[in-house]
Amino acid sequence: MSFTNFAPIPELYVSHESSLKLKTEAGNLPSWDLTQRQTCDLELLMNGGFNPLKGFMSEADYDGVVKSMRLADGTLWPMPITLDVSQAFADKIEPGQDIALRDQEGVILAILSVTDKWVPNKSQEALGVFGADDLAHPAVNYLHNVAGPVYLGGPITGIQQPVHYDFKGRRDTPNELRAFFRKMGWRRVVAFQTRNPLHRAHQELTFRAAREAQANLLIHPVVGMTKPGDVDHFTRVRCYEAVLDQYPASTTTMSLLNLAMRMGGPREAVWHGLIRKNHGCTHFIVGRDHAGPGKNSAGKDFYGPYDAQELFKKHEAEIGLEMVDFKHMVYVQEKAQYYPSNEIPEGSTVLDISGTELRRRLREGIEIPEWFSFPQVVTELRRTSPARNKQGFTVFFTGLSGSGKSTIANALMVKLMEMGGRPVTLLDGDVVRKNLSSELGFSKEHRDLNIRRIGYVASEITKNGGIAICAPIAPYTATRRAVREDIEAFGAFVEVHVATSIEECERRDRKGLYKLAREGKIKEFTGISDPYEAPTNAELVVDTENVDVDHCAHQVILKLESMGLIRG
Ligand code: PPS
Repeated sequence: MSFTNFAPIPELYVSHESSLKLKTEAGNLPSWDLTQRQTCDLELLMNGGFNPLKGFMSEADYDGVVKSMRLADGTLWPMPITLDVSQAFADKIEPGQDIALRDQEGVILAILSVTDKWVPNKSQEALGVFGADDLAHPAVNYLHNVAGPVYLGGPITGIQQPVHYDFKGRRDTPNELRAFFRKMGWRRVVAFQTRNPLHRAHQELTFRAAREAQANLLIHPVVGMTKPGDVDHFTRVRCYEAVLDQYPASTTTMSLLNLAMRMGGPREAVWHGLIRKNHGCTHFIVGRDHAGPGKNSAGKDFYGPYDAQELFKKHEAEIGLEMVDFKHMVYVQEKAQYYPSNEIPEGSTVLDISGTELRRRLREGIEIPEWFSFPQVVTELRRTSPARNKQGFTVFFTGLSGSGKSTIANALMVKLMEMGGRPVTLLDGDVVRKNLSSELGFSKEHRDLNIRRIGYVASEITKNGGIAICAPIAPYTATRRAVREDIEAFGAFVEVHVATSIEECERRDRKGLYKLAREGKIKEFTGISDPYEAPTNAELVVDTENVDVDHCAHQVILKLESMGLIRG
């Protein structure tokens, strides 16, 4: 039987006096501005959440983790914790050097003593860690399209914790939680990991899990980075606070974990277990499809539903935490209470609402019954995600030069303005290049910058309840995907591929640019001397060769109606 380990865990922080001194000295070191994910990783490295890691991984540790889930010394560790940097920065750094690690405001958080610098084989990393080199996996996409090309490794000297302005009182380091468990006399603690709002079934299953393990309960939600498109953590924490009141007094507590999830399924479950062990817990709830990334590019699940439980079970002794099975709880109408789905009294009526159905009801403003969730939770969710026809959204046209994007976009804008209700902004390719991106040309780097700027403005418009219509060429899949992720955090992203063929665009050649491109007078011209990667997952494809502009715009309107974004 396992009991809580109350002894403090090693941290990587130096004393307050040393940190003041180091901070001044570190001002002269080369410095790296941490990404959001790196800041999350650094926080857990420094506070012992990633114990026994003492810094960003060396190449030998990384190789072991990718290949066999073990550090070079054989210790179980499933997830690479690496510092990815740009080529330009890596060129300036050699092993043996110290670098300052700064947060996004420029505050120095730590010093990294670089021992290793290498170019990783990212496809091998994807296959080894996530089981597939498929961009439909959010972490594989991150690896190939967001993370830098070079990794730096070495021990960390911690100067200060990353600053959080939100929910300060709800964030605890592993040692703070251990001290809390000691103070409360909690000898056995079940941790529940979550990235979603909790409803009644979760409350029932977590409480039942704790009772069965004769333990107290720690609700331990992730507030660092979760899956793109998840409910934002501000809303979730307000929801969790409402649910916390429903547990019997002093059986349960909640603490926020600033983890950047990878959605790595089985390996992630093992990682989550090790992190909870470091936080002083003795048991961990692992459910069906734990930390699942969704479907792969062939429409199949990346991992089997019980892979995470199996891998966890296999390494349970080494993780040092007992796995508690997550029971699927359903509501039995006649009894007016929840039962595990394998203990339902015979002949009774079972009620359940799936995650997809819940999202539909929220989207369309349909009632969510009290047996399913707590009224305060539903109120919070409705406050942040009003029905879709009241939210902002972005229509993103993409297609070759001269395909008809601007003309259709203009027609759509007028139709939406005629309907009224929400402000409409048109970010046309040419207009943006005049007002937002006048210094940019057409290299891949500049096109990416241009599209990311459009995406940024559109995401702000969407967040504030407006309609953004964008009409750039946007020739690259990865950039369109990044923009989609930026926008889907706030509202719908409707990608419309204006699929006019290159032959037709060249035949029309309205601006005479194709002729110049053929003559080599315009370089890197999309479709002629620069690629256009046609979308494969656009919400709508329009054909301008056989259909007139008014009808194309009408097709978009119909699509928006079918998605519940406008009322017919
Ligand atoms: S991108 O790739 O999305 O950043 O392009 P975008 O901002 O939409 O700008 C495309 C318009 O710029 C003109 N133009 C070129 N297009 C493609 N390739 C090259 N090299 C180029 N040089 C100038 C062209 O008029 C495009 O306008 P549209 O409205 O698409 O015809």
